[in-house]
Amino acid sequence: MPQPAGVTRFGAIRASFAGASQGPYMDVSARSLLYAGARAALDSYLDANATGRLDKTEMFAAIEKTRSLFARLIGAEADEIAYTRNVTDGIATFAASLPWQCGDNVVLCEALEHPANLLPWYGLRPRFGIDVKTVAPVRGRIPLEGMLAAIDGRTRVVAVSSVTFAPGFRSPVGALGAECRRRGVLLAVDGAQSIGAIDTHVGSLNVDALATSTQKTLMGLYGLGFLYVRRAVSESLDPIFLSRFGIATEGHEAAVGNPREYKLAKGSRRFDVGNFNFPAAIAVGRSLELLHELGMDNVERHVCGLARKLALGFLEVGLPVFGGEPGSESSHIVTVGRSLGLEHDSAGDERMRDLYAYLVANNAHLSIRRDLLRFSLHVYNNEEDVAQVVDLVRRWNRR
Ligand SMILES: Cc1ncc(COP(=O)(O)O)c(C=O)c1O
Repeated sequence: MPQPAGVTRFGAIRASFAGASQGPYMDVSARSLLYAGARAALDSYLDANATGRLDKTEMFAAIEKTRSLFARLIGAEADEIAYTRNVTDGIATFAASLPWQCGDNVVLCEALEHPANLLPWYGLRPRFGIDVKTVAPVRGRIPLEGMLAAIDGRTRVVAVSSVTFAPGFRSPVGALGAECRRRGVLLAVDGAQSIGAIDTHVGSLNVDALATSTQKTLMGLYGLGFLYVRRAVSESLDPIFLSRFGIATEGHEAAVGNPREYKLAKGSRRFDVGNFNFPAAIAVGRSLELLHELGMDNVERHVCGLARKLALGFLEVGLPVFGGEPGSESSHIVTVGRSLGLEHDSAGDERMRDLYAYLVANNAHLSIRRDLLRFSLHVYNNEEDVAQVVDLVRRWNRR
């Protein structure tokens, strides 16, 4: 049977991920295997740094190239993207720059959000007198109806993860976006678990702000993130930190003119702060090129297709896949366990702890989150990985 286009390409790039041949790596939701192309770009930056050959003009050009690559990945413009350190930094930068009035509120589903999309909002409570309204999850999902019902006349922001870190379901971002836009409420998205795995277009989803980091599905390093803010929104905001890169300047980077009469930079560039994490931006630039080359629609099909096969394989050997048979809310993340716990990274269920230890002892890579075993797939995974993990579970069952 002829192979569909794309399959051969995914097979070929597997060799560019050193860890892919060392046991099934299903832990992109914690961090990705580093792409050899990103590693090579990083090495060459470090060589230049070590030998005094770094060139600031080239470094800034690389910053702009990566900014544009990321913007294109999510259907945005380069001016709508700011550099950050991580997701928390992105959410906090956006949140703290909003013109809050005492009594305003944010709606979110606390039980399913990562601290990166909780603490920045809670941190604003004492400063601005705002409220955080939390909605209960339904069957491990962020519920569209519950979220919409919680919006009132004082709601300024709805904050959601596009895919939750556990149990890993997709959130109803598009439906929330349409309704938020209609009601004049901003939609802020934590994209840490989706951007780079799930094809995302911020415009058609009506997203106002989106923060992500580069060490997971963007296949880069820790310590770098991106913040998208829709131009019409960012240009109405004053950045919480004012920096030389956040203002419109010409000529040398430090030539800010009269600091009393600064003009803010276009769009989200006003949120850039000081010098950049150049090596991490250069590295992720190569990974972004790879994602573009593969095509995000192909990437999504590949990773979610493998996740579906993994979930079906688990069900066949009797594992309690959270949520049962994969459906339209499934992603590239499969979680296993009977119920969602409260602790971030512990498994209260002894049997699941035993299975985790067995898999790790047999070179599989996965995480435990909220009492669930979490398997997360990316471009370097293949059907062989899926078959190997299901087979390990089968052997564990027989013991
Ligand atoms: C949904 C989600 N948001 C955010 C983060 C990370 O936040 P930060 O980059 O601020 O450490 C993670 C995982 O680490 C995550 O799963």
